[in-house]
Amino acid sequence: MKDVLRLASYSRRYWALLALSVILMAVMGAMTAARALLIKVAIRVLNPSAPSIPEKLFSVPLSHHDVYLEDFFPPRIHNIFTIFAITVIAVFLVRGICDYLGDYLTNFVGLSAITDLRNEVFDKLLGHGAGFFAATSTGQLMSSVMSDIERVQTACSDMLADVLRQSFSAIGLLAVMLGVDWRLALFSLALFPFVLLPTAKLGRRIRRSSRRTQDAVGELNQVLQESISGQQVVKAFGAEQYESRRFSTAASRLLKTNMRKVLIQGIPSPFIELTGAVTFVGLLWFGRAEIKAKVLKPEDFAAFLAAMLFLYEPLKRLTNLYSIFQQAMGASEKVFAYLDQPEEIIARKGARELQAFRQSVVYDHVGFRYPTATGLQIDDVSLEIRAGEIVALVGSSGAGKTTLVGLLPRFLDVVAGSVRVDGFDVRDLTLESLRNQISLVAQETFLFNDTVSNNIAYGHEKFDQSRVVESARAAHAHEFIEEMPQGYKTVIGDRGVKLSGGQRQRLAIARALYRNTPILILDEATSHLDTESEMLVQKALGNLMTGRTVVVIAHRISTIRRADKIVVMDQGRIAETGTHDELMTQGGIYHRLHELQNLDWTDA
Ligand SMILES: Nc1ncnc2c1ncn2[C@@H]1O[C@H](COP(=O)(O)OP(=O)(O)OP(=O)(O)O)[C@@H](O)[C@H]1O
Ligand SMILES: [Mg+2]
Repeated sequence: MKDVLRLASYSRRYWALLALSVILMAVMGAMTAARALLIKVAIRVLNPSAPSIPEKLFSVPLSHHDVYLEDFFPPRIHNIFTIFAITVIAVFLVRGICDYLGDYLTNFVGLSAITDLRNEVFDKLLGHGAGFFAATSTGQLMSSVMSDIERVQTACSDMLADVLRQSFSAIGLLAVMLGVDWRLALFSLALFPFVLLPTAKLGRRIRRSSRRTQDAVGELNQVLQESISGQQVVKAFGAEQYESRRFSTAASRLLKTNMRKVLIQGIPSPFIELTGAVTFVGLLWFGRAEIKAKVLKPEDFAAFLAAMLFLYEPLKRLTNLYSIFQQAMGASEKVFAYLDQPEEIIARKGARELQAFRQSVVYDHVGFRYPTATGLQIDDVSLEIRAGEIVALVGSSGAGKTTLVGLLPRFLDVVAGSVRVDGFDVRDLTLESLRNQISLVAQETFLFNDTVSNNIAYGHEKFDQSRVVESARAAHAHEFIEEMPQGYKTVIGDRGVKLSGGQRQRLAIARALYRNTPILILDEATSHLDTESEMLVQKALGNLMTGRTVVVIAHRISTIRRADKIVVMDQGRIAETGTHDELMTQGGIYHRLHELQNLDWTDA
C-alpha cells in the first residue's frame, strides 16, 4: 500500500489532467449503464402491440422522480423508433469520445509520471559511488531501470485507464441492476465474494512470482551484456557454446517463472465463469417466477440481464488487472529499493565550494579498506603534494596506487585519517567543486560511442573546436584523428572499439587536458604507448604539467624521472619517498624495481 501511495505521488503534478480523465471515464461509465437501459426501449420498439404512452426509463433514487426517454426530446419528436435511433447513436458516440479522451489523458499522466520516476532512478544511479557498482551487476541494474520500470509503466498507463474504465462501467451497471430490482441484484451478486476473496489471496503470490520473473530478466540481461562487451574474449576462448548454455539456462529459468505466473494469474478466470453460469441459471429461475407473478415486467428483466452480462466483462477485467497490478507492485518494490539506497558518497551538511586550488593536497594518516576486502588496502598513509609539484607513485601491482589517488576526487572515502585540499577535508567540500579541480586519465580508459570531438570535450554541451584540436595535438592524437574517415567527427564505436589501445589512451589524455584543471591524475596513462609515441606524449605532458599539480602513476622510468618527488608504495603503505637519485642511493624497493626494468628494457 505504501508503494501504491508513493507511486501515486508521482502523478501529483498532473492532478488536474487526472481529475479530468476521471470525469470523462465517469461519463463513459454512465453511458455504459445507459446502454443496458436501452435494451428496455429496444423491446418496446420491437413490440408492435406496446402502448404508445411513454415508458419510465428509471427512477432517480431518493427523490423517486421518474425519468422518461421522451423527456430528453422536444415534443415534436414522438416516434419511439426515431427517439430510440437517435439515443442509441448519441450514447455510443458520447461513450466512444469519453473513452478515447479519458484513455489518452490517463496514459499521458501515467507515462509522464513514469518518465519522472525513471529520470529520478537514473540520477540516483549517477550519484552512487564505487561501492554500489561493485556490489550490483550492470545487467541487473539495466534490467531494473528498463524492464522493472516498464512494468510499473504498464500499471500506470494502460492499466490505470482500464481500471477507471471498468470500475465506472461496473458502477453504472450495478446501479442499473439495483434500480431495476434490488433483490434480484443482491441475489445475483451473492456469489461474488467467493470469487473475490481467493483472487485477493492470490495477489501476494503473484507479486512474488513477478519479482522472480524480473530477477530472471536481470540475469538474462547480465549474460547478454557480458557476452556483447566481452565478445572478443568469448571468441578467443572458443566459449560460444559456454555462453550459449549460460544464456539458455537463464532463459529457461525465465520461462519457468513466467509460466508459474501465468498459472496463478489464470486461476480467477474459470471461477468467475462458473459463478457467472450458476448465477445466470438461478436468475432465470427467479426472474421467471417474478414475471409470472407480475412483479417484474419482461423488458425490465431483459435490461437487468443485459446489465448483468455487461457487468461480467468489467469484473473479469478488474480481477485480471488486479494481478497485473500486483506484478507492477512487485517491480516497483525493487525500483523504490534502489531509490531508497543511501548514496554512500555525499558532501557533509554545509559543505563549501572549493575555490581554485592553490596550496596543497595532504593525506593525513589515511586508512582505507574495500568493504568486501580483508585488511587495509591503504594503511596509515601521510603525504603532502604541494601545488605545482609532480609526484610519481610507483610500486608493484596491487600496492594500492589506484586506490590512493581515488581518495582525492572521492571515488572512495577514507575510513581513517583525512584527505585535505587547501586545508579543507574533502568531505567538507561540495563534490562538484572538488571534482572540477581534478582531471583524471584512468587506468582503464573508457570512451563513449560518439564523435572524437565529443569524446575530447566530454561533458560540455558546447565546445570550442580549436581547443579540442589543441588538446588532441598536446596528447599526440591529432595526427591519427586527421587520418580517420571523418576526422574529428568520426564516431569511434562502443568504448572506442574502432581505435587501437594506444589511440584510445591518447584520446583519454586529450580529454583530461581539455578540462584544463589545476590537478591532473594520470594512472598508467602512457602504458599502452610504444616508446616513441610515449616520448612524444611525455614531452607534451611535460609542457602541460608545468604550472599544474600532477600525480602520475607509472612504471616507466622516463616518466618517473621528471617527478619532483617519487613515492614508493608497498602493500598499502608508503615505503620510500625521495627523488630518483636519493632513492637509487638508498638501495631499497625503488632501486630493485629500477634494476628489474632496466633488465626488461635490454631484453626488449
Ligand atoms: N573493488 C575492490 N574491492 C575489493 N578489493 C579491491 C577492489 N579494488 C582493488 N582492490 C584491492 O585493493 C588492492 C589495491 O588495489 P589497487 O588497484 O589500488 O592497486 P594498484 O597499485 O593500482 O595496482 P596496479 O599497478 O595493478 O594497477 C589490491 O590488493 C586489490 O586486490
Ligand atoms: Mg592501478
